[in-house]
Amino acid sequence: MRVSTSKLVKVAVLGAAGGIGQNLALLLKGSPLVSQLSLYDVRGAVSVALDIDPVASPAKVLGFEKDELEDALLGAEVVLIPAGVPRKPGMTRDDLFNTNASIVRDLSAAVAKSSPKAIIGVISNPVNSTVPIVAETLKKAGVYDPRKLFGITTLDIVRARTYVAEALGASVFDIDVPVIGGHSGETIVPLLSRFRQLSEEQVKALTHRIQFGGDEVVKAKAGAGSATLSMAYAASEWTFSVIKALRGDRGLVEYTYVASDVQPPCGWFVSPVELGKDGVENILPFPELNEYETSLLENALKLLESSQQRGIDFVAKSS
Ligand code: NAD
Ligand code: LMR
Repeated sequence: MRVSTSKLVKVAVLGAAGGIGQNLALLLKGSPLVSQLSLYDVRGAVSVALDIDPVASPAKVLGFEKDELEDALLGAEVVLIPAGVPRKPGMTRDDLFNTNASIVRDLSAAVAKSSPKAIIGVISNPVNSTVPIVAETLKKAGVYDPRKLFGITTLDIVRARTYVAEALGASVFDIDVPVIGGHSGETIVPLLSRFRQLSEEQVKALTHRIQFGGDEVVKAKAGAGSATLSMAYAASEWTFSVIKALRGDRGLVEYTYVASDVQPPCGWFVSPVELGKDGVENILPFPELNEYETSLLENALKLLESSQQRGIDFVAKSS
């Protein structure tokens, strides 16, 4: 693919030496859409940058560590945040809050200072709470623009398409599955009623598998973390859509967790979002829900509200 170099985009990855960060960095380095890739981690980012540097692409790769965070963020147009600890078997994503909340708060305070106009994609869990943490931190710094802050929930879409295609014996390339709500267990609401071939039992089993697909990987990794490769793939797909929209391409839609008045009382909600030059261009309606999906959504909204409030309270109590 030939791309005008005047429209290439600078991307920073915070947490770049981790399981997601390294694989995401590699996928981004291979893209013709990226002009500069700044990799930051408390440790290990310089060696990752050196390692992927020879991959042929226009992207200049720079590694930053420790107190070099602000340098890493200078000029960044898209900032991706996979920094923080992953789950171990038996944990929920909410169990990560105590460790990851302050990591995400501190990183987003640096974004507010060094690249306040950047589009931010939050990967660190619990996404349902970490995104409000970033929002409140940016508000404190006076640079919050709700169009530019996203939770990356594309992995739920990636899983849903694959599992539904398998159940139908169809090609994954022919299957689109709306997944709304949030990114954690029962807050993940797949809308499967459009697949009329599926029995009620199949819909329930698939819904459960999409909601708890992350737990399957956590269990299989047996203490060594959670999904990294599929997440890096999902985050790269999300990032490429965002970059193309920044470059002026039209009609790019991603299901993603954004500030929303679509579903009060939730301030944040995964909807289909049309992307534009400033991030969120339009929050689109999702398909009509049947009775089963409505009950899933009602349950998800209660859980989402408390997770979001937890994030908001955390920043309010931070000095
Ligand atoms: P990991 O432990 O392999 O990597 C995390 C990296 O973050 C490490 O390299 C660590 O040094 C770095 N880090 C920690 N504190 C930092 C700081 N203050 N500044 C910069 N870097 C810092 O974990 P992982 O498997 O890559 O997962 C990362 C996060 O992504 C976890 O919270 C996990 O739950 C989450 N995750 C989210 C999704 C999603 O769908 N949104 C999917 C998978 C994993
Ligand atoms: C996932 O869905 O795989 C991630 O959120 C990681 C996890 O903790 O399951």
